[in-house]
Amino acid sequence: ARPAALPPDLAGRRVVISAGGTREPLDPVRFLGNRSSGRQGYALALVAAARGAAVTLVSANVSLAPPPGVRVVEVTDARALQAAMVEHAAGADAVVMAAAVADFRPVHAGPTKIKKRAGQGPPAIELVENPDILAGLSRPGPDRPRVVVGFAAETGDAHGTPLDYGRDKLARKGCDLLVVNRVDDGRAFEVADNAGVILAADGSAPVEIPFGPKTVLAAAVCDVLAPRLSGPEP
Ligand code: CTP
Ligand code: CA
Repeated sequence: ARPAALPPDLAGRRVVISAGGTREPLDPVRFLGNRSSGRQGYALALVAAARGAAVTLVSANVSLAPPPGVRVVEVTDARALQAAMVEHAAGADAVVMAAAVADFRPVHAGPTKIKKRAGQGPPAIELVENPDILAGLSRPGPDRPRVVVGFAAETGDAHGTPLDYGRDKLARKGCDLLVVNRVDDGRAFEVADNAGVILAADGSAPVEIPFGPKTVLAAAVCDVLAPRLSGPEP
């Protein structure tokens, strides 16, 4: 049952969320992966479902219990994640790309184990770029969800602040909202790592998300999402 304190402001909405991190096979037993735990995507699924949404969670290599009432679709690599997102996002109200997608995958993932061979030294691993799933979901078309949300962890450097890079990325991807985690802005790492800001493509003011557990960030995303999904389809 929905906790009474939560607004049912996503009731009747279909929301598709990706979570976790992709694994790109090198051979039958090895992969290139990343450290994403899936916690942020799972927190979003939990909160969106508790606020009434019908949630599909496309989950890549996560070892967490599925949130109650959420439909989970398991995938492993980036291309499978893309196929599942495209399938389930068609005509959805909103999609959220919280998964960490490998930017590159090995060109060759043979059916046999890579072996050490005397005198040959280490093998070279040739990589090819993966499809940009978020940019694809953001492309205009009859199946495009009303609201497309991306995530980005950004650091600042001599050329720009994390927010500058976030704004660039929002424009480049074509999504409606981008949740930017500032992973270095002079604050303590554990604080910077958890605070964020939600940028909008339509020029609405950025929404600051205070430091807190991932459910706080998830609630902030739902707060921005819900009014954009209220009312009849445009
Ligand atoms: N993303 C995606 N498909 C990819 C790479 C990223 O859908 N092949 C999504 C992520 O799920 C995230 C957003 O795009 O929601 C931003 O990811 P990020 O890695 O920050 O963006 P990139 O375009 O890969 O840029 P960078 O070079 O900074 O890694
Ligand atoms: Ca990337």
